[in-house]
Amino acid sequence: MLARQITEGVYWVGVIDPDRKLFEEITPLPDGTSYNSYLVQGSEKNALIDTVEPAFCDVLLRRLQALGIERLDYVVSNHSEQDHSGSLPAVLARFPEASVVTTPKGEKMLRDLLPLPEGRMIIVGHGETIDLGGRTLEFIHAPWVHWPETMLTYLRQDRILFPCDLFGSHLGGNDLFVVDEGRVYDAAKRYYAEVMMPFSGPVRKGMEKIEGLEIEIIAPSHGPLFDKPEFILEAYRDWTGLTPKSLVALPYVSMHGSTRLMVTHFMEALISRGIRVEFFNLAEADVGRLSMSLVDAATIIFGSPNVLGGMHPKVVYAAYLVNALRPKARFAAIIGSYGWAIKMNEQLAGLLHSLKIDLLDPVITRGHPGEDDFKALDKLADTIARRHQGLARELQTA
Ligand code: FEO
Repeated sequence: MLARQITEGVYWVGVIDPDRKLFEEITPLPDGTSYNSYLVQGSEKNALIDTVEPAFCDVLLRRLQALGIERLDYVVSNHSEQDHSGSLPAVLARFPEASVVTTPKGEKMLRDLLPLPEGRMIIVGHGETIDLGGRTLEFIHAPWVHWPETMLTYLRQDRILFPCDLFGSHLGGNDLFVVDEGRVYDAAKRYYAEVMMPFSGPVRKGMEKIEGLEIEIIAPSHGPLFDKPEFILEAYRDWTGLTPKSLVALPYVSMHGSTRLMVTHFMEALISRGIRVEFFNLAEADVGRLSMSLVDAATIIFGSPNVLGGMHPKVVYAAYLVNALRPKARFAAIIGSYGWAIKMNEQLAGLLHSLKIDLLDPVITRGHPGEDDFKALDKLADTIARRHQGLARELQTA
């Protein structure tokens, strides 16, 4: 269980967890994940930055032992969620002289979440620093960059930013630094979609706070480190941008084929108008891929048959997820078929209550779709094409 050197006196002492399949028991992790913890040694003191998922605390402690660490002065808690803070009780027990460094909100949350000893907390304000002897840690408050208490830590002399969840990716691989940019881009976008997108405003504010910093390495708490920070900073500027792209996300389910016929016709109608469409059969779709599509999509079209008085339960779940993830999409609609009752449009409007989204006229048919239904789908595609042209003008003037 060796530590991995980032630069002299700065080490990765985290955990690779390739077997984890779900995060927070909902988010699929096709590539596992890692919980990154870092040791920073000054000439007088040392600090651990974040800990690891508690089930793996022994791995963290063994890496510190392999480095010969007998004393720990500070444990910086950038974020209270337990995949980073859960090992604090064991680390504080192993190193009785160590104090936890956190934000005012962080202190309260850590005490609510974990059995921690009395005292042993240092509360730091935004911009405050701690001197380790030749190395300075600067703390940057970034509330709601996942949870309300979060902060980022900047190691001034080495120009390393430790942003915890921000810029992370669920990748449980070998590489300490990014090697395969395409793979990391994909994983980081999935992570942004699932974890950060609901907080895109605070993420933009957090990024403004680090704009003036010289950053040579970004060392997040999940996935590989970035030794070319502009790669992930540029991606985040794109993903957190306010104007969506000319893309339609189309989650759907069909029970007996009618809704599928409508979805297929509609997909062709969009493509023939030059609009990109990404479709997800919710009977088997990876909702992580749907979430990624929502990062960019200007329009979300739900395809659903009517089931027991409302949308198919899998489409209800997709709409609930869309509402929770708060994407930047401007338009939505439902298409599909019914047998004897229709409540789907009203239901969709209710499910998307948190979004400022323009609900376009639905195309819902009784049973098998006919010519009039296909014409209505063409008309919906025309409407979407016009609305997307308006967005293109917005992008040009932005
Ligand atoms: Fe990786 Fe918000 O915890």
